[in-house]
Formats: sequence, C-alpha cells, structure tokens
Amino acid sequence: MIDNKVPNITLNNGITIPQLGLGVFQTPEGETTANAVDVALRSGYRHIDTAKVYGNEKSVGEGMRRFGLPRHDIFLTTKLWNEDIRAGRTREAFYESLDRLGTDYVDLYLIHWPAQGWQQAWEDMVALYNERRIRAIGVCNLQEHHVRELEALGTGVKPAVDQIESSPQFPNQELIDFVKSQDIAVEAYSPLGGTGGSLLSSPQLAQIGAKYGKSPAQVVIRWHLQRGVIVIPKSTHAERIKQNIDVFDFELSDEEMQQIAGLATGVRTGGDPDNFDF
Ligand code: A2P
Repeated sequence: MIDNKVPNITLNNGITIPQLGLGVFQTPEGETTANAVDVALRSGYRHIDTAKVYGNEKSVGEGMRRFGLPRHDIFLTTKLWNEDIRAGRTREAFYESLDRLGTDYVDLYLIHWPAQGWQQAWEDMVALYNERRIRAIGVCNLQEHHVRELEALGTGVKPAVDQIESSPQFPNQELIDFVKSQDIAVEAYSPLGGTGGSLLSSPQLAQIGAKYGKSPAQVVIRWHLQRGVIVIPKSTHAERIKQNIDVFDFELSDEEMQQIAGLATGVRTGGDPDNFDF
C-alpha cells in the first residue's frame, strides 16, 4: 500500500477534507463502483465523491463497508440533483441518498447545478446542516454572480466548497481565485480532462512526467494539489486508482506549473453553468 500522505484542507466551518479523493462520475452501479471504492480505500484514499445522478450511491455504500473502516474515517460527498432542486424536494432527496448510501450522515452535501429553485434548496440545506445531518454544505457549478447571490440570501451559512470544472485544458483560474477570496474551498471536477478527453495524451505532460518517473495523470493531479485545490480524479481501474494517489514523492517547479497551465484551450468538457438544459 502507498503511504497515505494526502494532506487535509480545513473548510470554513472548521472540518477537514482530504485534498485528494476518488470521483465516481460515470462509474456504473454494481461491482464496478463497489470495487473501485474498495480499492481506493485499501490504497489510502479517505474521500469519496458521488452524486444522486451518478446512480451509484448504493454501490458506493457497499464499497465503503467492504474494507471495514469506521464510517468516520471516510469523508463522503453526495449531491442534490437538479430535478429535486426544481421540485423543492431537498429534504426528501437528502434522506433518499442516505438510504441508498446506507449511512446516517454525509460529510459534504452539494447543490449539483444552479437549477431553478437553487436558492430555496440552499435554505433547505442550511436547515439540514443545522440539524447536524451533514457536516458541511456547499455548491457546484456556481459562477461568481451565483456566489454573490447566495451570500446575499443572508442564511448565515457560507458554502464550504464550490466544485467546478478545472483541468489544464480548462483551468478556470479566475473563478478559482474569486471563490478562494470568499473563503470557500475549490474542488476540481474533470481534473484529468474528463472521460474520453485528449489531455492525457499531451506530449508536454509525458515529457514532464518522464523527468520524475510519473505518468501524465500523476503530473496533472500534482498540478492541482500544488494549486491548492481539492481534486477528485475518477478511474475504474485498480492500477490507475493506485497510481493517482502516488503523487506525494515529487514536486513540480514553478516553470512546469506554468507550462501545464499553458495547455488551456478554453473548452469545457462539461456543461456551462450559465447555460445548461438538464
Ligand atoms: P478509466 O476510468 O477508464 O481509468 P476525470 O477525472 O477528469 O473525469 O478523468 C477521468 C478519465 O481519465 C477516465 O476516462 C479515466 O479512465 C481516465 N484516467 C483516470 N486515471 C488515469 C490514469 N492514471 N491514467 C490514464 N487515464 C486515467
């Protein structure tokens, strides 16, 4: 097993989150997900990021139980889906997620997209948070104007994180700088350029990696860590899951950090938070 050297980040409500976690977007319900989660925990991961819409919460729960770690050793995130936001079903959807996960709390519950009604959903999440069913609440896909609108709601609870798309292909640096300036932590999704992307075949990444005996994926994960964002790479392959946490024995230079940011194309792999239809 690789030494678990994953640093913790302290969120604005005082709780800590491991800076590297396993993402399970597009990981199908069943053995694939349960096994990925189990392998990750055995490899030293202590942070799993799922969502209702991924359709795999049941298998995430099963994978978490297989290795037999105490529940409180694992940082578990799930997300409130758009149809539940639009239907005003935050509380119901939250308890349904708990049921599927087979747990009685989550560490982090996130609004998945700023779908119509997200402001009310935020107020409902604040109520659940105050009832101590969730250790921290946050958002995904909020642009600067959404964050300002949320702060103006005056609920007295700031989002602990904003989970947004970020990779060398689409660094999203301006938004990251703004979010951090609000004392909100940033989580990067599609950190490797997403499923089916071409980022990892970049010769520059291979060249940098060769210097350290690391793969392009490891170089990219290291780049995120050194930028101070929380990163949740997805893989369903045991070898890659293990590889993706084996990133604590090298350091990229400032020049390499810049070079990697220079791979930006300005093209997102996911939806546009200001214009989505799902
Ligand atoms: P797979 O799940 O087949 O291993 P992102 O985290 O940006 O969404 O990217 C996930 C994509 O990157 C998936 O297609 C995943 O494939 C692939 N991937 C994850 N880790 C690695 C790795 N270490 N080397 C190569 N590809 C990887």
